[in-house]
Amino acid sequence: MEDLLRHITFRQLRVFATIARVGSFTAAAEQLHLTQPTVSVQMRRLTDAVGMPLFEHVGKRVFLTDVGRVLLEAINELFGTIGRFEMAIDNIQGVHQGNLRIAAVTTSEYFAPRILGAFRRRYPGIKLFLQVTNRENIIDRLSANEDDLYILSQPPGDMDIVVEPFLNNPMVVLAAPQHELAGRVGLPVSVLAQENFLLREQGSGTRMALNRFLALSNVQIVSHMELGSNEAIKQATIGGLGVCVLSRYAVVNELRSGEVVMLDITGFPLLEKWYVVRLAGKPLSVVAQAFLTFLLKEGKEMFAPLAKA
Ligand code: PGA
Repeated sequence: MEDLLRHITFRQLRVFATIARVGSFTAAAEQLHLTQPTVSVQMRRLTDAVGMPLFEHVGKRVFLTDVGRVLLEAINELFGTIGRFEMAIDNIQGVHQGNLRIAAVTTSEYFAPRILGAFRRRYPGIKLFLQVTNRENIIDRLSANEDDLYILSQPPGDMDIVVEPFLNNPMVVLAAPQHELAGRVGLPVSVLAQENFLLREQGSGTRMALNRFLALSNVQIVSHMELGSNEAIKQATIGGLGVCVLSRYAVVNELRSGEVVMLDITGFPLLEKWYVVRLAGKPLSVVAQAFLTFLLKEGKEMFAPLAKA
């Protein structure tokens, strides 16, 4: 045991837990901002320390061996204990110090950092950690209990979570101003079938909301282009490569400058909402509770004008 403790590091355990969650060394390296060789070296050392294989490689995917699964259980317990210890310290320090871990979907980057900024001006001693990634990764983080609070607009229906709405999230159809449908009013939803759609990647909440609307409206769309960020979609729309559906939060400046226009299509804007989510049964630290209260009041007021449908 002592020998094992001498060789295993927290860093290795964190890398291991991430690989177990995302299913590949490459995806784990990306998520942890490490190089692939670093991840491989860390896992070789961990495997050597344990003395038995932890992974089975099938193509690019990796699966845990029985020993790997037992290790993962131990890691989850260990990280849970450390998390509770951290929270106990934060609670002793009160709301004026401590850590706040927020994970938010990419589209919320247009407002969440500003709310965090305002919160930190009130409590300057707090250390903030903000992860911004797409919905699928946020759900992974939520199931691994990696953060205090999560901001997203398509909460999962099958998890034991507490979900609180705090702002509207209108989603609009956008095109370049010279698009032939620009300025026309009351267009039926069927016109979308003639357009080339610029789509967000699989796993994006924005894409999920659009797919749900299309399925309900019975419309099939065509897309020749998938882009991994709202910014890329926006630029491609401005460049006349197609139309897109994005949260209005993502295009405030471009709508104001006239670089993109909203198309007036029946059924839009989609009336989605922004939610703050946490695991049910997970006690919030004093800091996380203070942020939640701040978000639901001040945060909401800061962005209320934008949230009007
Ligand atoms: P996305 O999520 O950034 O993954 O598209 C936005 C949302 O939840 O609506």
